[in-house]
Amino acid sequence: MMAEGRFTNPVVASLAGIRDFFSKQQLEDRYTEQARADGMTVLITGATSGLGFALATEFAKRGARAIMACRSRIPEAGEQVKELSGSDRVEMRFLDLSDLGSIHRFVESLVHDKITIDICILNAATTLPKSRKTPSGQDEMFLVNYLANVVLTNLLLQNSVIRPQKHDPSHENSSVGKTPPRIIFISSDSHQGATSIDYDEFGRYFDYGVSKAISNYSYFKLVLNTYAIELSRRINPDRVSVSINLICPGPVNSNIVKEAPWLLRMILKGIFTIVFKSPAKAARPVVYMALSPDYAGTTGEYLHMFNPKKMDPKVYDPEAGKKLWERSMELLKEIDPGYKTYHEFPD
Ligand SMILES: NC(=O)c1ccc[n+]([C@@H]2O[C@H](COP(=O)([O-])OP(=O)(O)OC[C@H]3O[C@@H](n4cnc5c(N)ncnc54)[C@H](OP(=O)(O)O)[C@@H]3O)[C@@H](O)[C@H]2O)c1
Repeated sequence: MMAEGRFTNPVVASLAGIRDFFSKQQLEDRYTEQARADGMTVLITGATSGLGFALATEFAKRGARAIMACRSRIPEAGEQVKELSGSDRVEMRFLDLSDLGSIHRFVESLVHDKITIDICILNAATTLPKSRKTPSGQDEMFLVNYLANVVLTNLLLQNSVIRPQKHDPSHENSSVGKTPPRIIFISSDSHQGATSIDYDEFGRYFDYGVSKAISNYSYFKLVLNTYAIELSRRINPDRVSVSINLICPGPVNSNIVKEAPWLLRMILKGIFTIVFKSPAKAARPVVYMALSPDYAGTTGEYLHMFNPKKMDPKVYDPEAGKKLWERSMELLKEIDPGYKTYHEFPD
C-alpha cells in the first residue's frame, strides 16, 4: 500500500486551514509579550522566510542570541531581523537540509564556536510540486521534512550543542535551577489521518506529481512526529532531560507554496493572503511553548496553535516508533558517510 497523507488536493488542504483560523484558542491568554529570552541561545532552522523569520525576529527582540540556520538570503535575512528586532545578537549560518554533509558541517561549526543551544526550533520544511532527487539519492521532501531532522537532532545531542539536563537530586523538590533545554518540532495538524508508515517506500526515490506531493507533506509530518515521540522516549526514559514538544502553527501566510506551478500558486496565495495568519501572529503559540513555564520540563506535548491536543494515535505507538528509528538508522548508515559520528540512543 502506498503511504497517503490527509490531503491530495492543495486547494482543499488550504481551505481546511480556514476552519482553524476561526477556531477558539484555549491558551491564548497565557501568551505574553513580556516573556523574555535574555541569556538564551535559540536556533531556528528555515529562518529566511515565513514562520522561521518571524520567530528569529521575536526571539531576538526578547533578548535571545538568535541563530538563523538557512540555505539562502545570507546575510540579508539576518540584517532584516536585526533591524526589526533592534538587536545585534543575530547570526546566520549556512544549512542545507537536503545535503547530509551540510548538516555535519553546520553542527561542526557550532561545536567549533562552543555554542550551546537552549531552544531549538526545527521549523524548515519544503513543499514541492513533484518529486526531486537529492545528491544522496532520496526524495527531497522526505529528506528535508523528515530525515534531516533525525540527523540534526542526533548530532546536536551527540556533540552536546544541546545538553540534556543532568539529574540533581538536591533540586528534586525545589524550583531552583535551570529547566531542561527545549526542542520544538514545527509540525502540521494535517498529519492526522495519514496512513501508517510504509516501509516498502521508506527512503526510496520514485517519480510523483502534485497530488502525491501534497499527500506526502502531511504523511512526512506524521513520520516526523513519530520520530519526535520516539526521541523523547529514548532521551527521557524516566525523567525529562530535554523537553521535546511539537506544534502546528495553523495556517500561515508564508512562502510555503513558492514552488507551486504559477496558476496554482496565485490561487493559493490568494487564499493565504485573505484568510491565513501573518507569520508574526502564527509565531505566538510557538514563542509561548518555547518560553512559558507551562511547558518547562514537559515532553511529548502537542499544541495546535494555542490548543493542547492529541496527535494522531499512530504517533504514540512505541512499536511504530522503534521500527521507524531502526529503519531510519539503517538508511542513514547506507547513505551518510558521517554515520559513525552519530549517537546511539538505547531503546
Ligand atoms: N504555512 C502554513 O500554512 C503552515 C501550516 C502548518 C505548518 N506549517 C509548517 O511551518 C513551518 C514553516 O513553514 P512556512 O509556512 O513558514 O514556509 P516558508 O515560508 O516556505 O519557510 C520554510 C523555510 O524552510 C526553509 N527550507 C526549505 N528547504 C530547506 C533546505 N533544504 N535547507 C534549509 N532550509 C530549507 C526555507 O528556506 P528558503 O527560503 O531557502 O527556501 C524557509 O526558510 C514548516 O515546518 C511548515 O510545514 C506551515
